[in-house]
Amino acid sequence: MTTCSAFPRPRVPRPPSFYVREVPVYGDVVLAPMDGITDPPFRALGRLLGSAMAYTEFIHAVDVLQRPQWVWRKVRPYPWEAPLVVQLYGHTVNMLVEAALRVQDTLGPAIIDINMGCPDPRIVRRGAGAGMLRSPLKIARLFRRLTRILEVPVTAKIRLGLDDTCKPYRLVARILEENGAALIAVHGRTQAQGYRGQADWEAIREIAALVRIPVLGNGDVRTPEDIEHMKRTTGVAGVMIGRAALANPWILARCPRDAVPPRAVWHVLRWHLQENLRLYGLQRGLVLFRKFAARYLAPYPAFQRQRRAILTLDDPARFLDAVAAVLFESP
Ligand SMILES: Cc1cc2nc3c(=O)[nH]c(=O)nc-3n(C[C@H](O)[C@H](O)[C@H](O)COP(=O)(O)O)c2cc1C
Repeated sequence: MTTCSAFPRPRVPRPPSFYVREVPVYGDVVLAPMDGITDPPFRALGRLLGSAMAYTEFIHAVDVLQRPQWVWRKVRPYPWEAPLVVQLYGHTVNMLVEAALRVQDTLGPAIIDINMGCPDPRIVRRGAGAGMLRSPLKIARLFRRLTRILEVPVTAKIRLGLDDTCKPYRLVARILEENGAALIAVHGRTQAQGYRGQADWEAIREIAALVRIPVLGNGDVRTPEDIEHMKRTTGVAGVMIGRAALANPWILARCPRDAVPPRAVWHVLRWHLQENLRLYGLQRGLVLFRKFAARYLAPYPAFQRQRRAILTLDDPARFLDAVAAVLFESP
């Protein structure tokens, strides 16, 4: 197996792999939006490693309108992140439209995405996230207004439905396309499934065959082979990867984790930590980095033996010494 470098130069296809309306997208692998994960440093890393787009974590429409500083900290894009996709969620058409306008005019993203897939019952109960799938008419009204008012393209990230008895994904996909959506990302599960069971790639294939706008397929892509497999079997324009990219960000460059040598892990981990400390400050930056560190170091037995001790260090220099010992000194 060939080894993977720390920052493998992504293959940039010319012409673009697909367009989101007039926004060109170079590449067919996209880091999925993940709350608490796809903050500016991890998104920027994703783009460096080959993610073709940069989705923010979901942001509540009310926060856009009432806590602009807090939202800016979540979004604050790196210069190389374009095309930046700011993802919003909310339950009223008026508020989502107002928030989307504000985001467009103040944050300057290339694309605005509406989350229609979050399975959290507190969010779904109010009709936001996957709860939107219950109301195709509301989706039609929302997208008609958004695409008339906004200058940037508007996209949607959906699930297949709420449960086995309510899977309106074909109708929702048609409604989205007819009302101007420029791309649909499909997580091939229902709300009831959460993150369990298997993603239904056949349903993703149906949607990709039904609409002319680009579709991103999402769910259970764990290896570089899965990327090709999903593309081949579903006909999607691109593949969106969530949890597997948290465990192995190099999957965005189509590298399996066991092809990534300790030196490459060291370079990327140090870059990622440094960016966290710069953005969040020394203490909070290190605390927020722990979840990433646990993934970078998971494959090493020496880390498993001292996991707690390493993850509770509160001095960045001592933390890096411990990381180096795990990567370079352990058997
Ligand atoms: C920790 C976590 C946070 C997530 N947050 C979001 C989010 O903010 N917006 C969104 O659309 N999906 C979110 N998702 C769903 C992912 O984008 C993706 O659809 C899901 O993980 C399935 O893809 P995977 O099998 O590649 O992980 C989240 C998933 C995880 C695991």
